[in-house]
Amino acid sequence: MDSVVELEYLDGGIVLVTLTNGKVNALSGAVVARIGEIAAELTAAPPKVVVVTGGPKIFAAGADISEFGGPDEAAGITERIHVALDALAAIPRFVIAEVSGYALGGGCELALACDYRIASERAVFGQPEVLLGTIPGGGGTQRLARAVGASRAKEISITGRQVKAEEALRIGLADEIVPAEELRDRTMALATEVARGATIAQALAKAAIDRGLSMSLADGLMVERELFVESFRTEDSQIGVRSFLENGPGKAEFLGR
Ligand code: COA
Repeated sequence: MDSVVELEYLDGGIVLVTLTNGKVNALSGAVVARIGEIAAELTAAPPKVVVVTGGPKIFAAGADISEFGGPDEAAGITERIHVALDALAAIPRFVIAEVSGYALGGGCELALACDYRIASERAVFGQPEVLLGTIPGGGGTQRLARAVGASRAKEISITGRQVKAEEALRIGLADEIVPAEELRDRTMALATEVARGATIAQALAKAAIDRGLSMSLADGLMVERELFVESFRTEDSQIGVRSFLENGPGKAEFLGR
């Protein structure tokens, strides 16, 4: 067991990453470094699907405020969290954030670096950095704006207010919400469904969407064209097409290659 972040390889190709850093899961330098190491490990030898979670009451309370100092320390903090969360976002597999409680500051940014957020009805999101006189430095200004739109991202970041689960769902910050007692089952049901899918095609779909988001529509469509062709180099595409023609939709048993 790791002291600040636990990494578990579950059956069926599901990897569970659990923040276990004390009472509030502050994203200390050690936690951020470990997230970066785990992302590198899961990129070098990818499982089928990744779940990132925290504690039952607190997913993660943000950067470790006790490590803050002046601008020199700030430069290191923001660079290190950007590098680690970019690495997490770039894992070539579907990365699900399971958010049971508070996801504030860097905790919200960690959830936003994942591909999809399943939240408990008790979850609370927010970018409260402004209440400390600073701003989001872990990707929040960029990823929150892409998730909820510029004006809502500005209002959330400028007031520092807490966004409860229902609202998070409505504005696209959370992708689904479920009762707290059903959260783990729902997360695992989705992870299991994804793990049974055509893994390489899933990775290509993720890559096409992510790469396209930083491009013009025309350039993004060229990326799609390239990766669509790439998907036909997989065994799964042969299996999937043949299964459809012989047995109808949704019955293919993929090999993940
Ligand atoms: N970094 C460092 N320490 C933190 C922390 C953080 N981001 N968030 C909370 N803590 C500490 C508190 O100072 C407190 O320390 P203490 O026990 O020595 O007094 C302890 O964790 C528990 O926090 P507390 O506020 O008493 O717990 P709570 O359950 O009432 O509330 C939160 C939990 C997460 C809602 C609340 O702690 C909070 O809002 N934290 C700050 C979030 C934030 O501003 N993040 C952005 C950072 S830039």
